[in-house]
Amino acid sequence: MAVTARGVKKRHVVLTRKMLILFFASLSCVLVFALATLSTLHFNNTKPPIPVSRVFHGPPKIAFLFLVRLNLPLDFLWDAFFQNGDVSRFSIYVHSAPGFVLDESTTRSRFFYARQLTNSIQVSWGESSMIQAERLLLAAALEDPANQRFVLLSDSCVPLYNFSYVYNYVMVSPRSFVDSFLDAKEGRYNPKMSPKIPREKWRKGSQWITIVRKHAEVIVDDDVIFSVFKKYCKRRPPIDTRKGKLNLKLQKQHNCIPDEHYVQTLLAMHDLEGELERRALTYTLWNQTTTKMENKGWHPITFSYANAGPQRIKEMKGINHVYYETEYRIEWCRTNSTHVPCFLFARKFSQGAAMRLLSEEVVDHFDVSALLATTS
Ligand SMILES: *[C@@H]1O[C@H](CO)[C@@H](O)[C@H](O)[C@H]1NC(C)=O
Ligand SMILES: *[C@@H]1O[C@H](CO)[C@@H](O)[C@H](O)[C@H]1NC(C)=O
Ligand SMILES: *[C@@H]1O[C@H](CO)[C@@H](O)[C@H](O)[C@H]1NC(C)=O
Repeated sequence: MAVTARGVKKRHVVLTRKMLILFFASLSCVLVFALATLSTLHFNNTKPPIPVSRVFHGPPKIAFLFLVRLNLPLDFLWDAFFQNGDVSRFSIYVHSAPGFVLDESTTRSRFFYARQLTNSIQVSWGESSMIQAERLLLAAALEDPANQRFVLLSDSCVPLYNFSYVYNYVMVSPRSFVDSFLDAKEGRYNPKMSPKIPREKWRKGSQWITIVRKHAEVIVDDDVIFSVFKKYCKRRPPIDTRKGKLNLKLQKQHNCIPDEHYVQTLLAMHDLEGELERRALTYTLWNQTTTKMENKGWHPITFSYANAGPQRIKEMKGINHVYYETEYRIEWCRTNSTHVPCFLFARKFSQGAAMRLLSEEVVDHFDVSALLATTS
């Protein structure tokens, strides 16, 4: 039942999204009905006509989706960012711990008041509940037809530019920004996922995605790949000395991180990679020194007041390509074919580092006009 209803919604969205972007100003009810008829004929289905309520008035919005543990420690910086934005061009959704309410006692920014999901779940970091939380955020944001782009952010993410720069950069792109690559050596693929997920469709990449509405629908509508992930993409348990030799067996299990594979693999399964800029918009600096004790790969470095100075920020903003070592691929950063700096956001920032960004007016006084100059 839900599948049928969503099938209609999806088709409608695909057709109207293009129209809304191209002929936004001239979109009329007549057009919508024409499209509805067209899609019905084309797909030869007998589903009910598309509800006109899916049409929105006003500018398209970016939905900022915050996936957080509890509160938003960097709300003061986002407040400055949103204050400089146009309220008709964005919306905010927060997935926090169940029961956590965002109000004047829990956040310094009115933009976040009551923006928490009421159906949030308990999230275990690195487990499939994390991707379920992402799906809940996307589902909530899809309720508003004006939301045309979806940006997933963590509680330690910061913007590197002002609102209008971010809005233009993301809106002009007909593609999603999804860091996605093959890693043959990685060994996180579990052969038991086959045939539902063939090995050649297995992808890896950053969890922090920016996607178009069509791809958000694909993620929310998916039950098949998600259930395979729930069953077979699990974290390796930590070594428990009481378990003795059993540890050897446990440690041989595939150590899988769902949030670094799910969206990438799902979009590959749907043959949508041609609709992606295969890179992230969120900068992360990896600490490549690992101790033998940890033995779990790189960790992102957390920026503090001391190492988030203007020179450091300038370097982040100056990056114009990304090299994917496992694929020998150089990704020159573009939006709608125009060369642009790669990163709009960065993580992980401490409150001190975010304070420094704010005092240096990164988010409210924009310093690079290259994008607007080349696209206008
Ligand atoms: C994308 O670029 C093309 C070609 O330069 C241009 O015609 C189009 O208007 C751009 N799209 C948007 C949404 O700005
Ligand atoms: C990098 O990781 C090592 C080992 O965990 C740690 O000792 C070091 O402080 C980290 N460096 C930074 C800059 O976070
Ligand atoms: C954002 O940056 C652009 C480009 O420099 C500038 O024209 C605009 O005034 C800035 N917007 C706001 C609201 O500060």
